[in-house]
Amino acid sequence: MKIENKITEAVLTIVEELYGQQVPEKMVQLQETRPEFEGQITLVVFPFTKMSHKAPEQTAQEIGERLVGKLPEVVSKFNAVKGFLNLSISSQQWIGTLQEIYQNPNFGFAPVTDESPLVMIEYSSPNTNKPLHLGHVRNNLLGWALAKVMEANGNRVVKTNIVNDRGIHICKSMLAWLKWGNGETPESSGKKGDHLIGDYYVAFDKHYREEVKQLVAQGMDEEQAKQEAPLIKEAHEMLVKWEQNDPEVRALWKKMNEWVYAGFDETYKALGVSFDKIYYESETYLEGKEKVEEGLQKGFFYRRDDGSVWADLTSEGLDEKLLLRSDGTSVYMTQDIGTAKLRFQDFPIDKMIYVVGNEQNYHFQVLSILLDKLGFKWGKDLVHFSYGMVELPNGKMKSREGTVVDADDLIATMIQDARELSADKVNKLDDITEEEAQEIARIVGMGALKYFILKVDARKNMLFNPEESIDFNGNTGPFIQYTYARIRSILRKAGKVDLSALAKDTDLSDKEISLIQHLQGFEAAVKQAGQDYNPSCIANYCYELVKEYNQFYHDFSVLKEDDEEKRRFRIMLSAAVGQVVKNGMGLLGIEVPERM
Ligand code: ARG
Repeated sequence: MKIENKITEAVLTIVEELYGQQVPEKMVQLQETRPEFEGQITLVVFPFTKMSHKAPEQTAQEIGERLVGKLPEVVSKFNAVKGFLNLSISSQQWIGTLQEIYQNPNFGFAPVTDESPLVMIEYSSPNTNKPLHLGHVRNNLLGWALAKVMEANGNRVVKTNIVNDRGIHICKSMLAWLKWGNGETPESSGKKGDHLIGDYYVAFDKHYREEVKQLVAQGMDEEQAKQEAPLIKEAHEMLVKWEQNDPEVRALWKKMNEWVYAGFDETYKALGVSFDKIYYESETYLEGKEKVEEGLQKGFFYRRDDGSVWADLTSEGLDEKLLLRSDGTSVYMTQDIGTAKLRFQDFPIDKMIYVVGNEQNYHFQVLSILLDKLGFKWGKDLVHFSYGMVELPNGKMKSREGTVVDADDLIATMIQDARELSADKVNKLDDITEEEAQEIARIVGMGALKYFILKVDARKNMLFNPEESIDFNGNTGPFIQYTYARIRSILRKAGKVDLSALAKDTDLSDKEISLIQHLQGFEAAVKQAGQDYNPSCIANYCYELVKEYNQFYHDFSVLKEDDEEKRRFRIMLSAAVGQVVKNGMGLLGIEVPERM
């Protein structure tokens, strides 16, 4: 049982004994003792002075005396400062707490059962005309971490993705490939499929702009030139054919999308993310049309003279929103309604979370209202997990011009950098194979990237600084990974030690106690991260824990400690820190190496 629970229980009894009153549990307020006072846990006594009819200090004094009497093995001594009763928890109790943490591989995690709420988390959601970029990296890392955090908070989680696989953008790539591709395939050129398609998208854009330029030179107005350029007209014709199910266009579309998916899969694998269920816009957009028609019949939406369908949200303080164009074609919102319909058919969703950049805040505000109107029970409370832009120090990411920070390039660079930086250290490891060295570099390089991005509050815009991220000192992934590897090395050197039970009479130092207290705080950090949808909470928890462990490691010996009991205690303490670090980093999707 947790220390706090033991104390709460005892305080309730004591208050009844002393003042003859039963009080609700929430009246027992416990906090961490402020550093300037002795003790670790503080009871706020003020609420009880109403019943004691005594001064706060006196009330604290008499509750303290009884507490020591009732829980001698938990509370070793106390001091009263005004209405605050500072409790010193016994070494014996702390050792018990450590043992509980050490023996529970799932410490801090709430159990998930078939009755747990079902949370669906959508993340990644790329378009099939270009490879993933740095923005997607942030999205994927956040989505994955959020899924882990929600699971650790006792939810059933379904990770999902909506791939925008249809539309004018993919027709542009297809057309360019037909015109200038000479039958190039990922096999023939050795290029990753998503990059191959992305290159044709860029090629389209280049030729298209050239056409526009020429038309403008011939005296056409720029806006008109953009509409009239032969290439864009051809792309639009292709889209119409696609909608009409033209076999040739569909076959090409299918082939090229398969290339893209194979490419995406490689990137997802490198990032360590996956999905339980993937939706494709080509399969959901028609569903959306149906749903809109339904809403039209029920009078939620209205049709204009030109045939287009709109939702009037002015009474909600928003504007009017187009749902179907006059030619009956759907828009982005229509697709999202259709996807929601399918998802709700497939899963009994209690909570829906969309991980999408903050440039779409308005879209999701509107979507929530529309889904609610259309009768989705989770529509009103859907969560748009909205995150900010990520840039490299040398400039803003651009998404149309082909000068984006490519996800695959970034991943490769991080692993390469890790390999070079750790070359010295790795070489010092005995008998390390080339393969192992490369695996460590992968873990460290990815750890650097992931941690640097995830430690930041998701809502904020950020700069990703590769150099800083991979520094072995400071608030970085590799710093935490290095401490983990150090702990594993201590445990290897310790060999076989019996840690099944510890003697309870070992005297602990303040540092050791505070480390156990910090370990215990993992549970609260996981809860907080879940409540606030905030993985950065876990990152910062891990950093603080590791810092504290390093101070301990600096001040105390572990294996060289002569006192056998102390040595065993410190080995267990190290092992427990290692385990919590591993689990915490695991929530962020970050692996930790056995050695480094
Ligand atoms: N594919 C879209 C884009 O790249 C993002 C989709 C976000 N998810 C959604 N359900 N609308 O902008």
